[in-house]
Amino acid sequence: MRVAAVAASLWLTMVAARPHDNGFEPAKLAYYPAPENNGLGVGVLVVPGGGYSHVSLDREGRNSTTYLNAKGYDAWVLNYSVAETAPTPLYPVPLEEALGAIRYIRGQNKAKVEKLGIWGYSAGGHLAAITVTNPDADLDFGILTYPVISMDAAITHEGSRVNLLGDNPPRGLVERMSAENRVTSHTPPIFVYHSANDATVPVENTLRFVNALTVKSRPYQALILPDGAHGIALALDDPQRNWSSELDRFLTYSI
Ligand SMILES: *[C@@H]1O[C@H](CO)[C@@H](O)[C@H](O)[C@H]1NC(C)=O
Ligand SMILES: *[C@@H]1O[C@H](CO)[C@@H](O)[C@H](O)[C@H]1NC(C)=O
Ligand SMILES: *[C@@H]1O[C@H](CO)[C@@H](O)[C@H](O)[C@H]1NC(C)=O
Repeated sequence: MRVAAVAASLWLTMVAARPHDNGFEPAKLAYYPAPENNGLGVGVLVVPGGGYSHVSLDREGRNSTTYLNAKGYDAWVLNYSVAETAPTPLYPVPLEEALGAIRYIRGQNKAKVEKLGIWGYSAGGHLAAITVTNPDADLDFGILTYPVISMDAAITHEGSRVNLLGDNPPRGLVERMSAENRVTSHTPPIFVYHSANDATVPVENTLRFVNALTVKSRPYQALILPDGAHGIALALDDPQRNWSSELDRFLTYSI
């Protein structure tokens, strides 16, 4: 109960705040500070999924902040523009919001956050993958949970593609918005989780991204489990699918 009350009040505080200089509205960001400053100086921007149609603020957002706070990390959840709340096609608005959020977090927490990562789920995983491969974001790591990676019609999540890019996006835009084409020698360490039989976002999305990271010799840790529905989030209470110990390993040794 206490956690829920604190979380609700943070959203309201942020809603009351004025827009920031760079055009980013702080109301789009909810801050979940680490209960104690453990001196690690790690912060994570969480980008929940929802097919660019809605934002899974509780199941994928709140649960991630609980996990991160328990490790002594500061966490933020981005309530980005989606089809339910903004005109479609959404491009480039969610990308600008993610970059704006990163600038805002850095601006407000200079002394506190030494390493900043991004953690995206599904369509939010697409937004996270596009952002973590953007050199302007200058992020320290990325976590991708059953991500949409590609806008290639052959393997993408169709609803996410239509909401973000429209029904007949130009080929150049499709290529630029396919994260597998954006990996460079500057892409920071990546953790990725996917289920091999994900029926909503094909595992090929993760395979293509991991292949691109391999080609560019970038560090990554990938976990693919044989069975798990799309949207299982952290699956902390499911012994067969709980993947948090692998994420622990990544955060301990790879960032
Ligand atoms: C958080 O995860 C737990 C266990 O996976 C789940 O039972 C719960 O519904 C999730 N919380 C929210 C707010 O979705
Ligand atoms: C998320 O953003 C939408 C659209 O701006 C808004 O209607 C909704 O209240 C926001 N949710 C929270 C929890 O702030
Ligand atoms: C899930 O993994 C965490 C360690 O990362 C562990 O503490 C927890 O007990 C596990 N839960 C289940 C149901 O296996």
